[in-house]
Amino acid sequence: DWIMGNYIEEAVAKIREQVGDEEVILGLSGGVDSSVAAALIHRAIGDQLTCVFVDHGLLRLNEGDMVMDMFAGKLHAKVIRVDASELFLGQLAGVTDPERKRKIIGGLFVDVFKAEAAKLKASGAGHKGATFLAQGTIYPDVVESGGTKTKKATTIKSHHNVGGLPEQLGLKLLEPLRELFKDEVRELGVALGLPPDMVYRHPFPGPGLGVRILGDIRPEFVKLLQRADHIFIEELRSTVDHNSGKSWYDLTSQAFTVFLPVKSVGVMGDGRTYDYVVALRAVQTSDFMTADWAELPYSLLKRVSSRIINEVRGINRVTYDVSSKPPATIEWE
Ligand code: XMP
Repeated sequence: DWIMGNYIEEAVAKIREQVGDEEVILGLSGGVDSSVAAALIHRAIGDQLTCVFVDHGLLRLNEGDMVMDMFAGKLHAKVIRVDASELFLGQLAGVTDPERKRKIIGGLFVDVFKAEAAKLKASGAGHKGATFLAQGTIYPDVVESGGTKTKKATTIKSHHNVGGLPEQLGLKLLEPLRELFKDEVRELGVALGLPPDMVYRHPFPGPGLGVRILGDIRPEFVKLLQRADHIFIEELRSTVDHNSGKSWYDLTSQAFTVFLPVKSVGVMGDGRTYDYVVALRAVQTSDFMTADWAELPYSLLKRVSSRIINEVRGINRVTYDVSSKPPATIEWE
């Protein structure tokens, strides 16, 4: 009874009424929520929306280009891509503590976003500057921060979010997904014409590969991890489980590769190698509070392992993480 077409019409009308002839700025991350929010708001107000996509250099392989193709290319939305990878990787150099890494990434994200908002305002060209900040906040986020659930006494991982940004920027909030659950957000995304592959993607943490490279983040580690992870995801998507007819990507809740900054000995042809190690992580969960490691078929693991070792020079060993949450967490940092 939740009719998507009507829902879109109503939501569009509401956004138009709320925004009037003012302008809106939105931080696009490539994630499901901000993508669907952008597509919906763009449907409602077109060029009154400017998306700012901060590329922190810790995204998945080709992710930045994919986001641009989708939003600037196909939807014809106004998108500013900020290539901030040098800034982020520069500030992160030598930092090994996971929480410090998160704080640096979250803090820089806010700085870069604020600078872009100010630039936009100063750029003139009929631009009065945004008066609204749009966010892809969904119902579970509202409930979590509104106190319906009591806040956990200890923070295990400080999640990168842009809390406090509207106040800092002096902007009003526009949150058109506030009443929706994740499944509804996904349906809405598909109805708005976003590709199902994008809308049904596994969650990706705000700090990105920054928490999947253990310890010190170096540009060469980012490149190795991007390529290894791309192979893993490609094989998960293309391997179908015959019982369910679903791909192993769809049968897992989250799957990714972790870069371990340790070297181990291997052999290739007549030579000895001394290269890095990666761990594959795949979990099944309904709420991400607890999770089981996924019993991926050996044949799939075998293919992923040999492809990574053969195709990614610099990695000579692949391991599979068989730890459940708790006591392990899903991410390694
Ligand atoms: P853990 O590792 O705590 O992860 O079992 C649970 C879920 O949260 C995601 N996660 C994050 N998401 N910023 C995010 O936006 C973060 O700093 C962060 N740390 C973990 C993780 O990917 C998993 O889905």
